[in-house]
Amino acid sequence: MLPPTINIFEKAAKKAGKILIRDFGEMENLQIESKSVGDFVTNADLKVEKSLIETLKYYYPNYTYLTEESGEIKGDDNTIIIDPIDGTSNFIHGIPHVGIIIAKMTNEEITDGVIYNPILNEFFWASKGKGSWCNDRRLRVSNRKIFSECLIGTGLPFGSRIYKNYLQEIDRVLKDSAGIRRLGSAGLDLAYVAAGKLDAFWENDLNLWDISTGVLLVKEAGGKISKINGNEWNVNTRDILASNNIIHDEILKKLSLL
Ligand code: IPD
Ligand code: CA
Ligand code: CA
Repeated sequence: MLPPTINIFEKAAKKAGKILIRDFGEMENLQIESKSVGDFVTNADLKVEKSLIETLKYYYPNYTYLTEESGEIKGDDNTIIIDPIDGTSNFIHGIPHVGIIIAKMTNEEITDGVIYNPILNEFFWASKGKGSWCNDRRLRVSNRKIFSECLIGTGLPFGSRIYKNYLQEIDRVLKDSAGIRRLGSAGLDLAYVAAGKLDAFWENDLNLWDISTGVLLVKEAGGKISKINGNEWNVNTRDILASNNIIHDEILKKLSLL
């Protein structure tokens, strides 16, 4: 049986998922606006977010809401964090790698979260102390320890987000690993670390709604989360390094440009 919060998040995500699927099949009618170079919002993002807020407000009318498209709606000390479509560029291009993200945060700690990819019908969820799951399968990070066998995820910076050390980071990781993947959804990248598909993932300049659930998924699946420089991650941090734990120090060394 799902924990009560996850049960409610599932209801909200699956209802909104129907809107996402409908619009995914009607790409020619998609209205797209650019927020900045490489950063887009579609009418589907707005409709999905509206539906999520509507459902969740029924159950949690007094919570604070922090959402990508509507900003913050002030309430009590519990916060619901929403990314209506993580992977909007994938969505616009008809690539079925997208996730609806909902998380709950209390006292700066993520305690529950879901990521739902309605196109592949993959429902990832994690709840503090109750593990990480995809549908009815429990998730565990990989046990790969030989770096040359490891597949590493990242998010390539775009527009004004390009920073100077990035090509060096890529160069160091590429040389010794089994390869790098840029899948286009930071949330699902973290879910894939939790599922043992990717052995590690790093990205700079993210928002909390991109990675809220993903952080909990990785931790509950036995993985490790830190900042890219190895310092402790917290909910105000904008960069992230996630791994299967075993290769954490090794990838940290490669990413550290000191
Ligand atoms: C983006 C995705 C992408 C990451 C970007 C995010 P969006 O979220 O997670 O993988 O590289 O930094 O902004 O815009 O598709 O919700
Ligand atoms: Ca996002
Ligand atoms: Ca988004």
